[in-house]
Amino acid sequence: MLKANYFNIVIIAVLVLAGMLSAQALGADKDNTIPHLSKQGAATQLIVDGKPFLMLAGELHNSSSSSTEYMKPIWPKLAEANLNTVLAVVSWDLIEPEEGKFDFSLVDDLIKDARRYNMRLVLLWFGSWKNGVSTYVPVWVKTDLPRFPFARNADGNALEILSTFSDASRDADAKAFAALMRHIKEVDGQQHTVIMMQVENESGVLGDSRDRCKAANEAYNKPVPKELMDYLQKHKDTLLPEIHNAWQTGGFKTSGTWEEVFGVNKPHEKDWRNRSSFTDEIFMAWQYSRYIEKVAEAGKAEYPIPMYVNAWLDQEGCPQPGEFPSGGPLAEVMDIWKAGAAHIDMLCPDLYVPDFKARCEWYSRLGNPLFIPETRGDKDGVINIFYALGQHNLMGFSPFGIERIAEPNSELAKCYSVLSRIAPFILEGQAKGTIAGIAMDDPNQVEKVQLGGYTLELRILRRWVSGPTEGPVAAGIVIATGPDEFLAVGKGLMVLFSTSTPAEMVGFATVEEGTFVDGKWIPGRRLNGDEIISGRGLRFPPGGYSIQKVKVYRYK
Ligand code: DGJ
Repeated sequence: MLKANYFNIVIIAVLVLAGMLSAQALGADKDNTIPHLSKQGAATQLIVDGKPFLMLAGELHNSSSSSTEYMKPIWPKLAEANLNTVLAVVSWDLIEPEEGKFDFSLVDDLIKDARRYNMRLVLLWFGSWKNGVSTYVPVWVKTDLPRFPFARNADGNALEILSTFSDASRDADAKAFAALMRHIKEVDGQQHTVIMMQVENESGVLGDSRDRCKAANEAYNKPVPKELMDYLQKHKDTLLPEIHNAWQTGGFKTSGTWEEVFGVNKPHEKDWRNRSSFTDEIFMAWQYSRYIEKVAEAGKAEYPIPMYVNAWLDQEGCPQPGEFPSGGPLAEVMDIWKAGAAHIDMLCPDLYVPDFKARCEWYSRLGNPLFIPETRGDKDGVINIFYALGQHNLMGFSPFGIERIAEPNSELAKCYSVLSRIAPFILEGQAKGTIAGIAMDDPNQVEKVQLGGYTLELRILRRWVSGPTEGPVAAGIVIATGPDEFLAVGKGLMVLFSTSTPAEMVGFATVEEGTFVDGKWIPGRRLNGDEIISGRGLRFPPGGYSIQKVKVYRYK
């Protein structure tokens, strides 16, 4: 009897262990049931329902989601434009109209409607700040300045911005956000329609380079907090040049006031690449990151799905702190945000500026995964997605004002249609580091990339290899899918192959045009002759996106 029991226990233990191992092999760890970020080889990806997920998204105008009725005709438009994710506002004033009394009916409607159209949601928490200012806080907060003080400018005047120097404001915001996350868990903890949260919107002080209320002035003249000093010392070798250089200017002091440690503010400059008042900006970045950290922490304690913050960028027209929200999560102060807000998973650029590529690079530093929550959705803006997917492992792309852009025949709809078909290959290519992407409008630009043991030359399609260009732009992605095998999508693009072996040439074994339907390859034309430039390169005509499966061979 004893022997039989012992035998049973061993069998059960083996079965349990085997179950655990196979669950682990499937990636079914503890958090696997809720959306989370996970390092997949070379990329950090968003995992939804156990699988990497590429957000082909769009952000609604600010006020659209405040009315379920208003949203009704918008949902089908978004679905027709092939979006799989919508970024929608949830505002503090509408969910907590009276202190402690919550109304989540708008959130519930958003979730129900997103499900009806088979879409996911990223919810934008318009709490203490939206574009720097505090217009979305409830009236009971706005009208109680003694309890919830506003920031002040150099003249001592109040700005319509909740001051970061108020624990009461921070705690009230954190309480409301926690209630929201608790509710989302209750109604969506199983189905995962809500996949990510944006905490606040483009935070930072507008109208001055820093808050100058009494508490702010006192803090500014006190020593830099020990937590920040410790972080800087611990990460001294990996700090980004902006913070490293500011600290170096102060002589790498290990304690002192903000100006002693980071240098005296430089006077106002018109050129956005030369930062003035950088110490004020660093100071505010610390205050905002600490405040938002508390809000995110309270939210994650209820329901820990990924959370990010977004930035209004420095640019011509608003080159200096205070002209853009000072202290927001800009690339220059990433180190400070990483030090201050451990519960924030990503810092994200609202990317409307012309130097798209440089900004992607800056935001990919420090292992920060790239998600673009706002960007241009016009013809020229949309094609940037190909570059960011291929070169920066982009996890999602979201043009702003999506209800205006999302027409069935729009560039966005066409682009999302083709990308949704090859999304699993893109995600795999990102993880394996076997993907390259391009978006270009310069007829003379030639990009060379190494992929699958070949050198690929990408450029705007020419009528013949060195002839006149056929289109104003080229956009596309190439993924090495196996030995001598590639999957490519593009438009207006030409791709030439070579190897590093002297005298060795590359020919096309087969080039097949086609598409994927429910993950299954449906071949179309077999491309040859003019369609592969007589064997010299792949050709993606400028008229629309095409997908090609390619096998190459080498000859000498
Ligand atoms: C950036 C903000 O984050 C959005 O909410 C919206 O106001 C756009 N600017 C408008 O262009």
